[in-house]
Amino acid sequence: MITRRGFLRLIGGSLFSMVSLSAYAVGIEPMLLTHVKRYSLTPPNWPAGLRLRVVALADIHACRPWMTPERIASLAQQVNALQPDLIVLLGDYAAGTRLVTEWVDSSEWAPALSGLRAPLGVWAILGNHDWWEDLSAQRAGVGPTLARKAIESAGIPVLENDVVRLEKDGHGFWVAGLADQLALRPGKAWGCSRFKGLDDLEGTLAKVTDEAPVILLAHEPDIFPKVPSRVSLTLSGHTHGGQVRLFGFSPVVPSRFGNRFAYGHVVEENRNLIVSGGLGFSILPVRFGMRPEILSIELGSA
Ligand SMILES: [Fe+2]
Repeated sequence: MITRRGFLRLIGGSLFSMVSLSAYAVGIEPMLLTHVKRYSLTPPNWPAGLRLRVVALADIHACRPWMTPERIASLAQQVNALQPDLIVLLGDYAAGTRLVTEWVDSSEWAPALSGLRAPLGVWAILGNHDWWEDLSAQRAGVGPTLARKAIESAGIPVLENDVVRLEKDGHGFWVAGLADQLALRPGKAWGCSRFKGLDDLEGTLAKVTDEAPVILLAHEPDIFPKVPSRVSLTLSGHTHGGQVRLFGFSPVVPSRFGNRFAYGHVVEENRNLIVSGGLGFSILPVRFGMRPEILSIELGSA
């Protein structure tokens, strides 16, 4: 039989564990445990001799106190120190949670990204929050969004259903950026009854005019089943790896495919997708088993 003292100890111990766990998930893992997540791969039909280091940042979700402009500028320096050939930004720069002490405007977070440096440049796409936070763009149903203008003002080109051809060591390759798949959200004020994407995969890939390999940037991974094998690698964010991930399983994933594209390197029918767990968070300021990450991918080396 449990004594009164034993019972109180049990309750006290449980409370202490809960408080410690919460402090870890809110304060320590999301704020202090950012790491570099590395992948090495050679996708099918990748040209021999094209070695490329691509570093990606996803889901920055700027806001105070979690993701300040100072922290973003420091992340930019960490990215530069990895000596990437190419830097890509996978969308969702705007805050994803209401639980903030202060909003961080695009006029603050975009300049913090301007320190990113790579020989083949820095290329960005937008995420759903970059659209959702811009009410005029929601009403109009078209961009450019405030986020796009701010990123471009920071000297970083934004690809929305657009492509760019780059070259390294005499080998060409394409970076294709898809417009957001959830750009327009339902709202009576703008007469939209369901989420509407502005993505045009076919139109984007039609702009690729030679046989050089293609790297596709798509904020949400849900497009992946439709991506043709012509694309060597698709890079996505958006899911945050579920924010809570235990034993390779995320209980909550903002994807209609659940855990299929929640996190990491997915190979299906010889096609490659890498989903970053991102840096910030949506809804709740919690990360557990899913540390904020900078993605570093070595292509052509494995
Ligand atoms: Fe997103």
